Amino acid sequence: MRRVYLSMSLVMLMGLSFLNAQERIPEVEKLLTKMTLEEKIGQLNLVTPGGGVATGSVVSEDVETKIKEGNVGGVFGVSSPEKVRQAQQLAVENSRLGIPLLIGSDVIHGYKTTFPIPLGLSSSWDMELIKETAQIAAKEATADGINWNFSPMVDIARDPRWGRIAEGAGEDPYLGSQVAKAMVEGYQGDDFTAPHTMLSTVKHLALYGASEAGRDYNSVDMSKIKMFNEYLPPYKAAVDAGVASAMTSFNDIHGVPASGNKWLLTDLFRERWGFEGFIVSDYTSVNEMIAHGMGDLQDVSALAINAGLDMDMVGEGFLTTLKKSVEEGKVSEEQITKAARRILEAKHKLGLLDDPYLYSDESRPEKDILSEENRAVARKAARRSFVLLKKHENILPLAKDAKIALVGPLANNKNNMLGTWAPTGNPQLSVPILEGLKNVAPNAEITYAKGANVSNDTAFAKKVNVFGPRIEISEESPEAMLEEALEVSKDADVIVAVVGEASEMSGEAASRTNLNIPDSQKELIRELVKTGKPVVLVLMSGRPLVISEEMKLPVNILQVWHPGVEAGNAIADVLFGDYNPSGKLTATWPRNVGQIPIYYRMKTTGRPAASPSEFQKFKSNYLDVENTPELAFGHGLSYTDFEYGESKLSSDKMSASESITVTTTVTNTGNFDGEEVVQLYIHDKVRSITPPQKELKAFKKIRLKKGQSQEVSFKITAEDLKFYNANLEFVVEPGEFEFFVAGSSDHEFTGTFTVGE
Ligand code: BGC
Repeated sequence: MRRVYLSMSLVMLMGLSFLNAQERIPEVEKLLTKMTLEEKIGQLNLVTPGGGVATGSVVSEDVETKIKEGNVGGVFGVSSPEKVRQAQQLAVENSRLGIPLLIGSDVIHGYKTTFPIPLGLSSSWDMELIKETAQIAAKEATADGINWNFSPMVDIARDPRWGRIAEGAGEDPYLGSQVAKAMVEGYQGDDFTAPHTMLSTVKHLALYGASEAGRDYNSVDMSKIKMFNEYLPPYKAAVDAGVASAMTSFNDIHGVPASGNKWLLTDLFRERWGFEGFIVSDYTSVNEMIAHGMGDLQDVSALAINAGLDMDMVGEGFLTTLKKSVEEGKVSEEQITKAARRILEAKHKLGLLDDPYLYSDESRPEKDILSEENRAVARKAARRSFVLLKKHENILPLAKDAKIALVGPLANNKNNMLGTWAPTGNPQLSVPILEGLKNVAPNAEITYAKGANVSNDTAFAKKVNVFGPRIEISEESPEAMLEEALEVSKDADVIVAVVGEASEMSGEAASRTNLNIPDSQKELIRELVKTGKPVVLVLMSGRPLVISEEMKLPVNILQVWHPGVEAGNAIADVLFGDYNPSGKLTATWPRNVGQIPIYYRMKTTGRPAASPSEFQKFKSNYLDVENTPELAFGHGLSYTDFEYGESKLSSDKMSASESITVTTTVTNTGNFDGEEVVQLYIHDKVRSITPPQKELKAFKKIRLKKGQSQEVSFKITAEDLKFYNANLEFVVEPGEFEFFVAGSSDHEFTGTFTVGE
């Protein structure tokens, strides 16, 4: 018989949740009593006057009039203290009740000081660093008048075809939850009214990363067991960290689009998880329920508000239909009051009801934005996000007086350094790699040639270039470019080729079905290797790529994602050994697109292949490729080597109220000081539902001098071993668990322990 331990939160939920009803705020309640139905509906309207990035086909019209008439609760796409002051003045001095506005923005990986893309930041496995980048982003954005951030995106992504994998923390619910918490804490701080903090938004609620076939905005269909165990934990972690708002996703869940999904927004998010903030739709996602097949604008707007959505982004379905729905009895005024209350509470939280100009201090931008200190953190963050995928013949690090041939379409380029979703950053302020190498190693002899276009396909380039010239196709022929690259390589000691994806080859509405490095660049790489010179590939991308061919070549590969404003300096720091790479992959790199979805937490199945590399008939494997990925979750090399000793347990048995400690000695056995991300994985051998074959349960990033050893300990409690069972109860079931401690997920289990009754 299996005994089940219920979590405390579930017990609370079952019996005591009504005791938790949020306290009313007198200032807000007073305001609500003065408001007409129209004014309440006005608070639920979020507009953008254009000028920012419009990710849909609509931008709002007559914004000024609407604000004056009390028809706007918030705006986005407006920045600078002056413009924000003007917008607030329209609301405060010209509307009947003078309610200030929320000022939103997508500050995804830094405001003007652009940090690496989120997938890169997550590869640092450094939660303090991630929090610091969020703090800086909040400081800069608030200096520019913004008080509400549409970040973090915590969608678990296990399909690298989906371009928005770039915007999140990868495939793992545990790591994703740690990152979600760090970001929310970084943006919000512990005092909302402090001028350097802002409201954070967890998005996209929910499961957006599971869009079928990796095609953006596509449908999602998933069992609740999978949702709760694999996809929902990071959203919950954000709620537990006190996130102030949430944004719905574009996809449907169980047949109902997220923006109109009552089970998701009310039953789960508010009632089960106790979320007390407000929920905003995504860009026109209420209106998009018409195309989903849920009715006309009035129907879908009523569906959304009744489901628990509070604010309508850009579409104005709420503004134009809710009054009618109240009159027709399709929506209660109480439902609208509830939503308006939540928006007003957010404004109160920020201190805006007391001082609408809190974020309009004109002296701030100059001192707070793009300061030397902020750029230094961007450089540090970039260095720490890089992942050394492959080492070959100890070519790295390079000598600072080496003769270097620097080639590749991304080697001397500013337009692609910031990465996707960096509309508040200025690509022209970024440091190209050529400049970075010269800054860090002024005595190196560097020759440069572009060598190839990112892609030679003009139709493809046109689609990628919507926000600016990311793929610039040279006048020169591909042959002439290649020849030039070979020419500059002739006298070099080493060739550094900066290749990969342009920044808008990932991100929103940037799904790909071919995940290779584009052909034009593959050709360049092959020819460079043929010279017989040592080659270092500096690889940029917003997603895991398929690099099976390149992995077989005699090259070194350093994955740098899109590194942000300090790109060139950070890459030079690593290439010349001022910083030893320490990043680890947070999403699996497949051998080919046919393996997708592939992730380390896959289940064993009833017919696991005995060997991952050998085909076995009637086992779960492929005829044409082995089951293992090209590069596993958690993988990442260093210039030095780390050896793991045997793991020791404080006890091999624990009860559900006890804990045990696993201790492993890690030694730096190579020739450089370095950092290692020590990872603990477990396997629950018997469960009432089929368990994943491995689960990351803890990690620590440690620094070791060459020759140094350190004991790393992880405490395991029953709480860490819980999962959602078939009844969606969060439980630990007694039995045997396997574990290992290693530097990546692709290791064998080395020990076991038992959780008793
Ligand atoms: C994206 C959101 C973003 C919103 C506002 C949408 O298209 O999906 O992530 O916050 O636009 O810019």
